[in-house]
Amino acid sequence: METKIRWGILGTGMIAGKMAEGLSVVPGAALTAVASRSKEKAVEFSRRYNVATAYGSYEELAAAPGIDVIYVATPHPYHCENSVMCMKNGKAVICEKPFAMNEREVLRMIAAARENGVFLMEAFWTRFHPSIRRVLELVASGALGEVRHIDSDFGVFNRFDPQHRAFNKELGGGSLLDIGIYPVFLTLLLWGEPDRITCVPHMGSTGVDESLALIYGYDDGRIATLYSSFIVNSTVETHICGTEGRLKLPRMWFCPVPVELTKGENRTETISFDFVGNGYNYEAEEVTRCLREGMKESELMPLDFSLRLIRLLDRTRKEMGLVYDADTGK
Ligand SMILES: NC(=O)c1ccc[n+]([C@@H]2O[C@H](COP(=O)([O-])OP(=O)(O)OC[C@H]3O[C@@H](n4cnc5c(N)ncnc54)[C@H](OP(=O)(O)O)[C@@H]3O)[C@@H](O)[C@H]2O)c1
Repeated sequence: METKIRWGILGTGMIAGKMAEGLSVVPGAALTAVASRSKEKAVEFSRRYNVATAYGSYEELAAAPGIDVIYVATPHPYHCENSVMCMKNGKAVICEKPFAMNEREVLRMIAAARENGVFLMEAFWTRFHPSIRRVLELVASGALGEVRHIDSDFGVFNRFDPQHRAFNKELGGGSLLDIGIYPVFLTLLLWGEPDRITCVPHMGSTGVDESLALIYGYDDGRIATLYSSFIVNSTVETHICGTEGRLKLPRMWFCPVPVELTKGENRTETISFDFVGNGYNYEAEEVTRCLREGMKESELMPLDFSLRLIRLLDRTRKEMGLVYDADTGK
């Protein structure tokens, strides 16, 4: 029998729990350890998700023997330092999105992966869903003709709390980096970098974008209209429109969902998938496979794509004038 890839989770918040659930259905993966800044929280998490070892500091997990890969699940401003610490200790890393606060930090992470000869990947779960993989195939096959419009939104109402990481600037608050990143990711995946960016942000009282309308324009006429928000529940749909057809990714399109293909005016076919797990298992499966095969990055979510994504986010933030401490070296 093949030995299992041993996982550690760094941080015990909302998404850490989702990954623990996702990992439970991944063949060949064993969730072995968890770390929190507080021993009590680590122990509580380890009991809830049946994890053998609970560490009361991130440093202990990074240095722990018997761990192959660490999933970094802290707020964005900590992604770089947490990931680099794990990699310096010889651990492979899968780090939550956004990969880091800006290009400078992402470059530091990539350099650490190369210097230490370890695997590194951004945990962009949507990239690994069968639905998104099918969307890419359909677009590439020409099923939609020439794709000229992407319309994608992600607005989820969050009760205002200046301390919560959604609104707290010190914790990387703002809709673009947290959820607007999904429409930006999809546009970059399908079309590459835009030639022009127009944005209309609504900056809230904590100095971050509580909502944001974005237009990415391409010199050949393609236009992407994107929206993110913490102050409204929008449709959270994506529409990819071409000269001969269109695709609709229905509500909560960033999760595993069926895909609707419409040809002509009204001929709509729903493409369904046999999804398993809670959706986080797909990225975990990819990491497990890459580690077994001795790869240092994933072909589906390569480091170069993560670098291009953060550069586009930096460019977009520049347009709206949003600067974080990480940008000024504070
Ligand atoms: N892929 C997805 O679907 C998805 C969904 C949601 C979030 N995310 C990403 O995952 C990351 C974490 O989001 P989350 O919603 O899980 O956040 P969360 O519930 O607030 O949890 C973050 C965890 O990070 C640790 N942490 C370390 N320093 C912290 C600090 N100064 N303040 C607060 N927490 C700190 C804490 O764990 P300990 O107290 O145990 O140390 C905390 O539980 C974000 O970067 C976010 O973009 C991804």
